Amino acid sequence: MDLKDHIRRVPDFPKPGILFYDISTLLAHPDAWQETVRQLEAGVAPHKPDVLAGIESRGFLVAAPLALRLNLGFVMLRKPGKLPGPTVRHSYALEYGEDAIEMQEDAVTPGQRVVVLDDLLATGGTMRAATDLLHEQGAEVPSAACLIELSFLQGRDKMNVPVHSLMSFASGDTASLG
Ligand code: PRP
Ligand code: MG
Repeated sequence: MDLKDHIRRVPDFPKPGILFYDISTLLAHPDAWQETVRQLEAGVAPHKPDVLAGIESRGFLVAAPLALRLNLGFVMLRKPGKLPGPTVRHSYALEYGEDAIEMQEDAVTPGQRVVVLDDLLATGGTMRAATDLLHEQGAEVPSAACLIELSFLQGRDKMNVPVHSLMSFASGDTASLG
């Protein structure tokens, strides 16, 4: 099964000129979604995580089933102001402006092995912020994993941990995001 066949590409969303990689069609297909989680397990389990971390919001869809399958807990990395405190935050630069990611201070303990999950690696800003935040909390991050990598945006180059992606798209002719 080619998982890429289950990703719908939507032109001009959310803005003109952006090609959106839509995982709705993958989530809606039980066999393809089962296969996706199986492949994720094969990529992530060898890193022997103690806990998984999912990045709000689409990363939750990836982290939750994998955590069940690996019999692990998972930690929510959220947009600012969503989690009751005490929380810790890591800010990162966007093309225009700044964003931040938060987690609860007691969500991981120093030395724990945490694998980060998200649906998509585009510029890598979000995933790098996640690994930075976890490192700042003393966690080990042996790996990060995602469903889709937009390789022409070179997000992987921004990363400081190995990244496992299930699908890579290499078309640079249209500005693309997920
Ligand atoms: C998208 C996607 C990744 C991130 C990738 O999330 O789900 O989390 O952007 O982009 P980057 O590699 O350039 O940082 P988005 O912020 O659109 O929010 P959502 O997951 O809540 O839909
Ligand atoms: Mg996201």
